[in-house]
Amino acid sequence: MATAQQLKALIESYTEHNSDRFLSVATQIAAHAARSGNNKLAEELKKLIDEAHRKQKIEPSLSKTIPIAQPTGDLSGLFSASYPKTRLTDMVLDENLKERLERVITEYKQFDLLSSHGLSPRRKLLLVGPSGCGKSMTASTLAGELNLPLLTVQFHILITKYMGETAAKLRVIFDAMKQTRGVYLFDEFDAIGVHRTSGQDVGEIRRVLNSFLVFLEEDNSTSIIIAASNLETHLDNALFRRFDDTLHYSLPTLPMAQQLIENRLCNFSIDNIAWNTVLKAAKDMTHADVVKACEDAAKDAVLDDRKEINTKELKKSLVQRCRIKKKPT
Ligand SMILES: Nc1ncnc2c1ncn2[C@@H]1O[C@H](COP(=O)(O)OP(=O)(O)OP(=O)(O)O)[C@@H](O)[C@H]1O
Ligand SMILES: [Mg+2]
Repeated sequence: MATAQQLKALIESYTEHNSDRFLSVATQIAAHAARSGNNKLAEELKKLIDEAHRKQKIEPSLSKTIPIAQPTGDLSGLFSASYPKTRLTDMVLDENLKERLERVITEYKQFDLLSSHGLSPRRKLLLVGPSGCGKSMTASTLAGELNLPLLTVQFHILITKYMGETAAKLRVIFDAMKQTRGVYLFDEFDAIGVHRTSGQDVGEIRRVLNSFLVFLEEDNSTSIIIAASNLETHLDNALFRRFDDTLHYSLPTLPMAQQLIENRLCNFSIDNIAWNTVLKAAKDMTHADVVKACEDAAKDAVLDDRKEINTKELKKSLVQRCRIKKKPT
C-alpha cells in the first residue's frame, strides 16, 4: 500500500494539474509495492503508468493539463474561467452537428500530427442559432472533452465597461490565448458581430469588430476560439470566412426532445409516458426549456416523495414553461 506521504503527493499533483508529478509519484507507489512484496499490484500499476506515458508521447501538447486560476492583473474582469466536465454524450445533437463537433475534437487531439504535415486543426468556430439550443454548452463540451479550461468573454460587458479601449483589451485577450491554451468563448458576439455597414453601427463597435477580425486572422495560438451569436442574419460576411467552421444550431426535433427528457429524467420512472401527448407540448421549445420543464417535474416528484413522473405532470411542466417564456418582460 502507498504511504500517507505518497497519497498526499498524489492528490497535490492532481490539484496542481501536474501530470508529470502525478506519474512520478505513481511510479514511487509501484516501487514501494514491489519492495513490500506486493508484486501483483506493482505489476498492475506499472502497466497503467506505462500506458499513461505512451499516451503522453502520442499527444504531447495535449497531455499537460493547463493550470487554471481566475484571471488576475490585466486579465481580471475580461473573462471568467472554469474547468467544465461536460462531455459530448451529455448533449442531444442532430447527426450533422455531432459529426462536426467530433471532427473538431479529433483534429484537435491530433494537433501535433496535423501540424507536422503543415495542416492546422479546426479551432476557430462560429456558433449561430437561437438562444437555449446549446451554443455555450458546446464550448463547455469542447473544454471538457479536450481537458482545457473554458475562458468566457462577455462582449457586452467588455464593450460597455471598457468603452474607448475595447480594442486594446481584445489584444490582451488574444495575447492570453498564446500563454494559456484553452477554449475561449466570445459570448454575445452579436454585440460586435453586426453588419459593419448597418445603421446600428457606432464607431467604437466598428473599430472593435475590425480589430477582432485582424486578431482572429493573425492568431496562430493552440487555443480554440469560439464566437457565439443568436443573430445569424445580422452577422457580417467578413466574419464567416475568418472562421474554420460555422456550426448552426436549431430547435430540437421531437425525437431529440424525447432524448432530452429521457436524459434529464433518467433517475425517475417514466416508463408509462404517452410520448405523443408529451412531445406535442414540447413542440417548438428550445433544448433549455425542455430541460427546465423536466427539472420542474422532477422537483415536484421529489417534494412529493415519488419516483414516477406521469404524462399529465410532465405535460403540465412543459406547458407552464412555454407560458413563462411568453410573458412580456
Ligand atoms: N443540445 C443540447 N443538449 C442537451 N442540453 C442542452 C442542449 N442545448 C441546451 N441544453 C440545455 O440548455 C441549457 C442552456 O443552453 P446554452 O447555454 O448552451 O444555450 P445557448 O445556445 O448558449 O443560449 P444563449 O444564446 O441564450 O446564450 C444548457 O445548460 C443545457 O441544460
Ligand atoms: Mg450562450
